Amino acid sequence: MTAVKKSLPRRQYDVVVVGAGGAGLRCALQLSQAGLSVAVLSKVFPTRSHTVAAQGGISASIGNMSEDHWQWHMYDTIKGSDWLGDQDAIEFMVREAPSVVYELEHFGMPFDRNPDGTIYQRPFGGHTSHFGETPVQRACAAADRTGHAMLHTLYQRNVAAHTQFFVEWMALDLLRNNAGDILGVTALEMETGEIYVLEAKHTVLATGGSGRIWASTTNAFINTGDGLGMAARAGIPLQDLEFWQFHPTGVAGAGVLITEGVRGEGGFLLNKDGERFMERYAPHLKDLAPRDFVSRSMDQEIKEGRGCGDGSYVLLKLDHLGAETIMKRLPAIRELAIKFANVDPIKDPIPVVPTIHYQMGGIPANYHGQVLTRVNGEEQIVKGLYAIGECAATSVHGANRLGTNSLLDIVVFGRSAGNFIVNQHPERQHEHEPLPDTDIEASLDRVNRLEARTSGERTQDVIHKMQVAMQGHCGVFRTLDVLKEGEKVIADMVSEVDSVYYADKSKVFNTARIEALELTNMIEVARATTRSAANRLESRGAHALDDYPERDDENWLRHTLWFSPDDRLDYAPVRMKPLTVDTIAPKPRTF
Ligand code: FUM
Repeated sequence: MTAVKKSLPRRQYDVVVVGAGGAGLRCALQLSQAGLSVAVLSKVFPTRSHTVAAQGGISASIGNMSEDHWQWHMYDTIKGSDWLGDQDAIEFMVREAPSVVYELEHFGMPFDRNPDGTIYQRPFGGHTSHFGETPVQRACAAADRTGHAMLHTLYQRNVAAHTQFFVEWMALDLLRNNAGDILGVTALEMETGEIYVLEAKHTVLATGGSGRIWASTTNAFINTGDGLGMAARAGIPLQDLEFWQFHPTGVAGAGVLITEGVRGEGGFLLNKDGERFMERYAPHLKDLAPRDFVSRSMDQEIKEGRGCGDGSYVLLKLDHLGAETIMKRLPAIRELAIKFANVDPIKDPIPVVPTIHYQMGGIPANYHGQVLTRVNGEEQIVKGLYAIGECAATSVHGANRLGTNSLLDIVVFGRSAGNFIVNQHPERQHEHEPLPDTDIEASLDRVNRLEARTSGERTQDVIHKMQVAMQGHCGVFRTLDVLKEGEKVIADMVSEVDSVYYADKSKVFNTARIEALELTNMIEVARATTRSAANRLESRGAHALDDYPERDDENWLRHTLWFSPDDRLDYAPVRMKPLTVDTIAPKPRTF
């Protein structure tokens, strides 16, 4: 696989989309339907992308179960974000929500139905009506396989629209001209080990989350932050990576997701005394308080000696829902509980612990998907580059995401980036810009150095060390000294990552090579996370710092930006002005 620059095969497309989860597929569909040539790269077959694992639903204020309004959805999302969400992007998302859901319905997505034929909606954490007053059923569900249903629907639509898929391809690096505009990517065809140059007038990163940097996560093995690594190496900042969501209900010991939809349908958490402890922490919303709140309450119960079994977990009880409801609304979690926890939830409660689930931060982007950087205190658009879905910090989730806003995010911003590119395209309908060799050479050097190494650290050992360090230093509750220690451990690991090697140098489907390349992306995300977290001196959303237990809007109502090349932090203002309505001003966050 020693790639020689001159012999590298090249392909040209109007748009290269990296990632075939819900965001990438929704964007590609818009582009293909408009007649643009689109290449979608995916490390796995598209319908195996991590969107397939999303369970509980997609939020939209369509009001099928009771009155609902986009402004209530907007309020919940901003409050859920602990006011770090950008209010223009949030307004855009919640207003688009009903139309993207109806569009999916018309695409053939098999939502559950109410007796009158309308889409079934279930309650979810932090979803309320009348600006926080009463819980509302806003999550449009396809049993507990909503992501599965969505991904298959979007894939089929793309096949019909003749989107070109590059299955089992891994994007390596962004390619730039001298002005820093993005002109495509280098990519590895896993089957052959060949590296290609894919030139594009527009490059879209839709690579999903990076949860595999942690030891215990609901994320798939493919979630290694590839888009974030590519952006970081190209000098593009990573935003708000101190904010990671612990999902309250991962199966204890396995980390597998048990949907919040269980609590939406009426399940609840119990401590070892059989107490429904969320009534103490969140008297109003109880088990349906937002995830940061519930995860911290669970952790507190465990710390104070009220954990179940060996003391390390709590129980999720749902048998009282009855076998019929469980089989109809929650069939997949029953299967998961039987397989991973060895309990049948029709009879017994499921042992659960908070487990890393979602990264609120990512590549800074606006609601058109355009990637943003910051130069001398001013925001700048990175021309030719877009980021959508979990890899992007758009930033609609701020410091804490509400459940089911992620499936919404991916289709809303997938579609809006697609529309934006289509509208831009005529202006850029020129030939492909000449591509300087510099970035191609740098990308090849990076791969060739790795390939040439015959001794050093084993990839798996370094990954494991990083995961343990992340889990131990950046938990549900944080302290400054532990965060600082974690920052150092991860910084020191950079040289270990630079010394990994694999013995197997074969070209064909060499997973050792893929893992080593993935690690070079994961370390960027781990660096951004620890550095950003150790420098945010307040508690907000998922960043709960014992030394600074209060939110500090005076000093910290701002986004963190971390630049990899010089390991530098910068900060950017939160966009407090929505598109058409008044700002929702910060206030204390109680439930
Ligand atoms: O609990 C869940 O079903 C997860 C949904 C989400 O992360 O939005």
